[in-house]
Amino acid sequence: MYDVPTLTDYSAAALEKAAAECIRACSGEAAEVRSEAELKAFRDRWMARKNGILTQINDLWLKGAPKDAKREAGIRVNELKSRIQELVEGAHVGHVAAESYAADHVDISLPGIRRPIGAEHPVIKTMHEMVGVFTRLGYSVAEGPVVETDYYNFESLNFPVNHPARDTQDTLFIAGQQGKPQRERLLLRTHTSPVQIRTMEKMRPPLRIVIPGPVHRNDPPDASHSPMFHQIEGLAVDTNITFGDLKGTLDHAMKEFFGSSVKTSFRPSFFPFTEPSAEMYVSCFICGGSGRRGADPCRPCKQTGWIEILGCGMVDPNVFEFVKDSGYDPRKVSGFAFGMGADRIALLKYGVDDIQLFFQGDVRFLGQFV
Ligand code: DAH
Repeated sequence: MYDVPTLTDYSAAALEKAAAECIRACSGEAAEVRSEAELKAFRDRWMARKNGILTQINDLWLKGAPKDAKREAGIRVNELKSRIQELVEGAHVGHVAAESYAADHVDISLPGIRRPIGAEHPVIKTMHEMVGVFTRLGYSVAEGPVVETDYYNFESLNFPVNHPARDTQDTLFIAGQQGKPQRERLLLRTHTSPVQIRTMEKMRPPLRIVIPGPVHRNDPPDASHSPMFHQIEGLAVDTNITFGDLKGTLDHAMKEFFGSSVKTSFRPSFFPFTEPSAEMYVSCFICGGSGRRGADPCRPCKQTGWIEILGCGMVDPNVFEFVKDSGYDPRKVSGFAFGMGADRIALLKYGVDDIQLFFQGDVRFLGQFV
């Protein structure tokens, strides 16, 4: 810590040297100020009327000066005082870092500080858009748990225990469930279909719901597979719902989503929970259904002019049997259901060729969808 020395030599050179030392000490201490309390202590130490450093300098260097040196000393001490005053007034907490922001260093021509605003992930955005198509038709949104029981994921959807249809689902099971009855064992839901049953248990018909959400399958990741992906499911139940309602609804939804020129095509398929079942294709919205892009083959539709978008069908009466007590008597109500992969639709829509890009979190990729 700096102490005011007593002077013996009052020559201009000696005064100069003493003043320089004093200024160096003061600016050094100013740079060390790190809190409001330290700032106050620093100010008091230098400026206090009673025994502050400036007062001491006044006493020792000015009053103590021999008569013939008084004039010179007076000028020097005054200069020193105003310099110290500037340093003390300019001092603030975190002085060193703050100094580079001093007003005379601000270049107002530089761009301001950007605070990037996040945006919806392309898959989530696709889900919201597709859900929007159905909510505008009067559907409500339903959701359910990702960790599901065997009962909701399989049994109540008409996949009997040990039935080979379960093999199509590449299920990831939760470990250590063997002690429980089969229907209570936990797994990661392989599709959003269990939310059909969960919702019918709670709400009586008529029912119209869309179900967006993540699902899991034991698929090794590659350009078109991911162990976690997203589905959008739909279910409509009422009296006298027919396959015509299914076709009309889905045809309308695809035109809303992909554009009014797309056509739909329904081809027979199998799902345990629908009868009859179908796969729905849309005419390729990339090549317009021709299968070619100029001289090149159209890759997304594999030159067929059609792209498979979803599975669908009329709700199997066996499924209604599981929720009969909630008002779903298979002799009185009928319904249709459908399920599609949101990630695959996002890939097609944005012309992305690797599903992994959606899950790697690279902002250079994700920033392109803002
Ligand atoms: N859950 C089926 C799957 O993940 C997709 C599906 C097909 C859902 C037909 C449906 C449906 O609701 O009716 O493979």
